Amino acid sequence: MARPSLLYQYYHSHRHLSSRSFGGFFFIPTSLALLTSFLILFYIYSTSNLFTHTHQITPRIKLPSGFSTLSSPSLFSAPISLENASELTKTGTLERIIGDGSESQRARGPQSSSNGQYEKNNEVFHDRDIFLEDYKEMNRTLKIYVYPHRKDYAFANVLLPVDFKPGGNYASESYFKKVLMQSHFITKNPTVADLFFLPFSIARLRHDPRVGVGGIQDFIRDYMFNISQTYPYWNRTNGVDHFYVACHSIGRVAMEKAPEVKFNAIQVVCSSSYFLTGYIAHKDACLPQIWPREGEPPNLVSSKRKKLAFFAGAINSPVREKLLQTWRNDSEIFAHFGRLTTPYADELLGSKYCLHVKGFEVNTARIADSLYYGCVPVIIANYYDLPFTDVLNWKSFSVVVATLDIPLLKKILKGISSKEYLTLQSNVLKVRKHFQWHLFPVHYDAFYMVMYELWLRRSSMKISFDDSMVFTTHNR
Ligand SMILES: *[C@@H]1O[C@H](CO)[C@@H](O)[C@H](O)[C@H]1NC(C)=O
Ligand SMILES: *[C@@H]1O[C@H](CO)[C@@H](O)[C@H](O)[C@H]1NC(C)=O
Ligand SMILES: *[C@@H]1O[C@H](CO)[C@@H](O)[C@H](O)[C@H]1NC(C)=O
Ligand SMILES: *[C@@H]1O[C@H](CO)[C@@H](O)[C@H](O)[C@H]1NC(C)=O
Ligand SMILES: *[C@@H]1O[C@H](CO)[C@@H](O)[C@H](O)[C@H]1NC(C)=O
Repeated sequence: MARPSLLYQYYHSHRHLSSRSFGGFFFIPTSLALLTSFLILFYIYSTSNLFTHTHQITPRIKLPSGFSTLSSPSLFSAPISLENASELTKTGTLERIIGDGSESQRARGPQSSSNGQYEKNNEVFHDRDIFLEDYKEMNRTLKIYVYPHRKDYAFANVLLPVDFKPGGNYASESYFKKVLMQSHFITKNPTVADLFFLPFSIARLRHDPRVGVGGIQDFIRDYMFNISQTYPYWNRTNGVDHFYVACHSIGRVAMEKAPEVKFNAIQVVCSSSYFLTGYIAHKDACLPQIWPREGEPPNLVSSKRKKLAFFAGAINSPVREKLLQTWRNDSEIFAHFGRLTTPYADELLGSKYCLHVKGFEVNTARIADSLYYGCVPVIIANYYDLPFTDVLNWKSFSVVVATLDIPLLKKILKGISSKEYLTLQSNVLKVRKHFQWHLFPVHYDAFYMVMYELWLRRSSMKISFDDSMVFTTHNR
């Protein structure tokens, strides 16, 4: 609030002067106060979209080669021209790079058009061409070194991949490690590695009676001590080329006694809320929470979606409380709290929209559930750093609703035309594959997408072993 506070100071210093020099003329301070109030109101009004659009995504600039084969141009009703930025036209280079104005605008997500309406970018990817190119490069070059541990080591159960097929709510963590260890990304040669994997499993530590919830922090501290004593790689970069993967929210406090992991390493976690201090957006990455399901749902194509919206879950947060209060008795938004009497799959197949509502954490498996069953997810979880948001344009296949707008939910959903809905839903079917795990990974599945997120975060420069480049160590 820089402007109002300056005005405030101005007003105060002038009030002082004016009351001294003009005695009874108090209309000057009064009018200045009024002016200040108007400016403050105007300021709040002009910046208020910061509060309502929590998930604005700014993708990268678009390259020329034919971008949009999938978009539906009719949805961009008014032609949009690039603003006349003199700096750009002077050199002409950016113009050349991004092609014509409308195309560059299209790559930027929702746009405010001349009639004040938000127009939607219906591409599933922020930039498909860049993604595909980068992905190929990632698949070809990314190398990961995993700190090795012997099978007979006392904590092998925590450090080595599980020998069963992961399932349930927190499966993503185990799935990732299991698939990674058998993949072509692994290298035994640390000198060629781009990234170093810290293979501890938060979920397994939690259930290990020798450690348990209360012992996780000490275990991580000791493990990091061991790693940095035994190998030179952590010290070399202070850990910026290291990562770990965790799905249970307990992982958030697991690094409390190893702050250098929290601040330097790449944390790939399900509870990716940028409201929380333990998660650092852009450095860290979201691991999608996925309840693994095999094959295809049997009746995806034939499903009749008669209900407007569906939610089922416990009331364990103020956000769900609000949903319950507002929509409990509604005939179109079905919010079930407590035990569901009908099969979950039928509800997801029978609803147009499926609500993902923040509980204890921003993340649940509901987004992946609804995508799997072809239901358009509605995300009511402020500050959720959504999975693969670097790559995927969430506005093209989901509806993001701020918690404050829960009372407007029906209006928002009914405001989406059936044509727009069909676009959303066909995009749901396009992105489903990114939210599925496979023991033998399939290109563009959850495993490869997480690898891509890691690749985006790899250090672009390898730091040499030269003594002159030793980094200052952290004071604990
Ligand atoms: C941009 O500037 C050029 C040259 O200065 C001018 O010819 C053109 O009409 C301007 N376009 C817009 C959209 O203002
Ligand atoms: C990814 O890399 C593997 C191993 O080098 C190769 O067999 C596969 O064809 C690559 N796939 C793509 C899509 O580049
Ligand atoms: C650290 O190393 C010591 C000594 O080798 C070992 O006893 C201990 O289990 C290790 N701790 C962890 C958490 O790796
Ligand atoms: C890494 O740094 C720590 C703390 O300065 C030090 O105790 C340790 O010996 C270093 N590790 C190696 C392998 O040099
Ligand atoms: C829903 O119905 C219950 C019982 O019929 C009633 O007590 C409650 O006030 C209603 N809630 C709303 C939000 O209409």
